[in-house]
Amino acid sequence: MALKTKGALLWEPGTRSGWTVEEIELDPPKPEEVLIKLAASGLCHSDAHLDTGDIPLPWAPVLGGHEGAGVIQEVGSEVHGLEVGDHVVTTFLPSCGTCRWCSAGMCSLCDVGAGVLGGKAPDGTNRIHARGKPVGAMSFLGTFAPYVVAPRTAVIKIDRDIPLEKAALIGCGVPTGWGSAVHAAGTEVGDTVVVVGTGGVGVNAVQGARLAGASVIVAVDPVPFKRETAERLGATHSAKDFDEATELVRTLTKGVMADRVILTAGVGYGNLVGPCGVLTRKGGTLVVTSAAPALQEHIDLNLLDFVMSGKRLQGSLYGTCNARVDVPKLLGLYKRGDLRLDELLTRTYALEEINQGFADMDAGRNIRGVIIYD
Ligand SMILES: NC(=O)c1ccc[n+]([C@@H]2O[C@H](COP(=O)([O-])OP(=O)(O)OC[C@H]3O[C@@H](n4cnc5c(N)ncnc54)[C@H](O)[C@@H]3O)[C@@H](O)[C@H]2O)c1
Ligand SMILES: [Zn+2]
Ligand SMILES: [Zn+2]
Repeated sequence: MALKTKGALLWEPGTRSGWTVEEIELDPPKPEEVLIKLAASGLCHSDAHLDTGDIPLPWAPVLGGHEGAGVIQEVGSEVHGLEVGDHVVTTFLPSCGTCRWCSAGMCSLCDVGAGVLGGKAPDGTNRIHARGKPVGAMSFLGTFAPYVVAPRTAVIKIDRDIPLEKAALIGCGVPTGWGSAVHAAGTEVGDTVVVVGTGGVGVNAVQGARLAGASVIVAVDPVPFKRETAERLGATHSAKDFDEATELVRTLTKGVMADRVILTAGVGYGNLVGPCGVLTRKGGTLVVTSAAPALQEHIDLNLLDFVMSGKRLQGSLYGTCNARVDVPKLLGLYKRGDLRLDELLTRTYALEEINQGFADMDAGRNIRGVIIYD
């Protein structure tokens, strides 16, 4: 029988009309799915992109949210290794384990994961309904609701002693940022790393760079609170804009510039790439993690300089992580006090306050806002 609950929907994605919290119906889990009672869901900028239209959706309405943690309530007949009562994290990119990319350990490029913006469950059907209409789910999930029916491929069991509202951040922001520094940028001991945009994702790139042994970590963000938090979590220096950062990095590296630069600003505008390229040393790596407006086809970059100086431009999805390896690793680092999660959770909200949560994100008031369920 369908479960009546509530959820935050966008009926007109791309119009900045905000989220409506209303009754939804959730179908029971199919054989390869589980029903999770969520404790918390993070507010990631990628959901805001659905509202602004930077990430356009060809379908509506959509139930948002892709960064959750909770307790399993029901398990489909074909799900193995997960049981009722297990504490779990949802991952915004499932990995099937069998496609070419998963088989090669490139799980963030999974062929099933490639369908996360398709609005339907991996089997092509809808689990959610509202006002008598089928509702699409962000990332096969829809964690802006107290319950979620999730494919087993997007669910990872975690230890019960980890607070679920902190664990929720492991669903997207933490691995995306940490992996951007560790996997995508390949940070090495002694490196100089610049992180451009130190919000919910970028501040974890700072943590990843610190854990990978970078000696100099420069946080670039126009918001003083973001720079201060980044410095508390491992940045050795900070700058408010590209001019200040370029001057600082030039001085710190005696003109060599940064080994790795990671772009995690709220929107990946093309005119941010050139200044990031200037910050990158010869032969260095520039990682782009920010989601860019989908229709943007140009970036500002001095291509000749880029070629002549042998720099590498590297995109990164989900921090190029392999979630089943990296989620337990990150939670282990948290338990040992090496990775900080408590400082990331700036404010909590009821689901009904979701528009305030995104307004606070836009205003630069939160590292992460988190919705807490009963
Ligand atoms: N590639 C992926 O797999 C992936 C996963 C999650 C999020 N993202 C994307 O990463 C980006 C960051 O997400 P978030 O949740 O951290 O957002 P956020 O809003 O929490 O943080 C963005 C930060 O960028 C700063 N900023 C804005 N313009 C800047 C500029 N010109 N220079 C320097 N800093 C600037 C803001 O002050 C803010 O601190 C978004 O585009 C999001 O969609 C990508
Ligand atoms: Zn996200
Ligand atoms: Zn796969």
